[in-house]
Amino acid sequence: MRRKIIAGAATLLAAVGTFTFVVTRAEAATQTLQSLAAAGGRYFGSATDNPELTDTAYTAILGGGEFGQTTPGNAMKWDTIEPTQGTFNYTKGDAVVTFAQAHNLKVRGHTLVWHNQLPGWVSALPAAQLQAALENHITQEATHYKGKVFAWDVVNEPFNDDGTFRTSPFYNAMGSDYIADAFRTARAADPDAKLYINDYNTDGQGAKADAMYNLVKSLKAAGVPIDGVGFQAHLAIQYGFPTNMQANLQRFADLGVDVAITELDVRMVLPRDSAKDATQATYYNNVVKACVAVTRCVGITIWDYTDKYSWVPSTFSGQGAALPWDENLVKKPTAYDAIVTGLGGTVQSPSASVTSAGPSPSKSASSSPPAAGACTATYKIVGSWPGGFQGEVSVTGKAGWTVRWTFANGQTISQLWGGTLSQSGSAVTVTPASWNNTPPATFGFLASWNGTNALPTVACS
Ligand code: XIL
Repeated sequence: MRRKIIAGAATLLAAVGTFTFVVTRAEAATQTLQSLAAAGGRYFGSATDNPELTDTAYTAILGGGEFGQTTPGNAMKWDTIEPTQGTFNYTKGDAVVTFAQAHNLKVRGHTLVWHNQLPGWVSALPAAQLQAALENHITQEATHYKGKVFAWDVVNEPFNDDGTFRTSPFYNAMGSDYIADAFRTARAADPDAKLYINDYNTDGQGAKADAMYNLVKSLKAAGVPIDGVGFQAHLAIQYGFPTNMQANLQRFADLGVDVAITELDVRMVLPRDSAKDATQATYYNNVVKACVAVTRCVGITIWDYTDKYSWVPSTFSGQGAALPWDENLVKKPTAYDAIVTGLGGTVQSPSASVTSAGPSPSKSASSSPPAAGACTATYKIVGSWPGGFQGEVSVTGKAGWTVRWTFANGQTISQLWGGTLSQSGSAVTVTPASWNNTPPATFGFLASWNGTNALPTVACS
């Protein structure tokens, strides 16, 4: 009956010379760093700190959808949580958790055992009392935050740059066994949290990364409950990009652990200029691409999102401008767009160009070359995972384009940016967003697929 009515309507429309599809209009959802990362099953986060949480312009962005994760920059460190032995103060950490929960941010706990920001009483303890103090600190804090953090940096920065173990009250008292002990204690307190070891200058291959690799391998072999390795990625353009970062992340993943970029920032010697910004953008793009290329790289955290609250200027004299938002909370099109394209997204507004292209597409198809006044559309699959994929279509030729194709395998678009989507069954029609009218134009989308994901024949008119 229903089919007859539709057939009848089609006949009627054909009879009056109108050709149309019954379309469902879908507004393109807002593309954010988190939405792009989530399309690949990852999170994109920003560190934060308590004083900033009173800055409403700042919190509007932190909690406004760009991010899906946060890490307290200081609030869960030993000197904040247990400033005197046996006295625990969770006020600051709880404030970050409360903000996070209200804004859909998952929390990485940072950090249980670290040689820095360690209260004096720990260093003053006789060696024989160190292990009990370490275990009590971990047990109390991890129990308090159980169910509120999805991961913990259990041990932070255990190595010197040459790959030898760093001396610390823990190492001095217990040797490197403090590491295994810390992980076992954390697992007992919170069996559901992913337990990480975290360090800097391990992002690329080298002596320090080798030492970390060997440690993780031996911890795994000994049955120590370690789930992940964090790579801080505090980079500086004047020191060059880490060597073989993707391969480095992959070799850790191959040990059977998750990996994460935990504290990303890319500093420069001030003043900022366009050449430095361009280099910085390349670094951001490369880090993001390295993570995206490694299945077990679960997420990326920038070490706060704005230069207004970066730790860099106070730590590295004369350096700064390390983050994708400037000190006025304005996005830098260079760094921000480089992260977007690294995550497989398309730059959405007519902003400055990105210095480094994304990964080469796995496959693509173009419409026939245009006659005068016509246009060409090239359809690419830029990323694909079980059940989903990201597509990108670039258009050259005339302004006011319309791109059409028909999916052959039941693919369905869930989200599209850079244009207005009409999908009726397998038939897709896309017209430009107002700012994307004039070629060269690109739009992108997320879609589902199953079994086969054939490239469609695209038409541009
Ligand atoms: C930094 C904080 O961002 C600063 O506010 C604080 O003064 C010092 O620590 N590696 C880490 C982080 O693991 O905890 C550090 O955070 C940056 C380096």
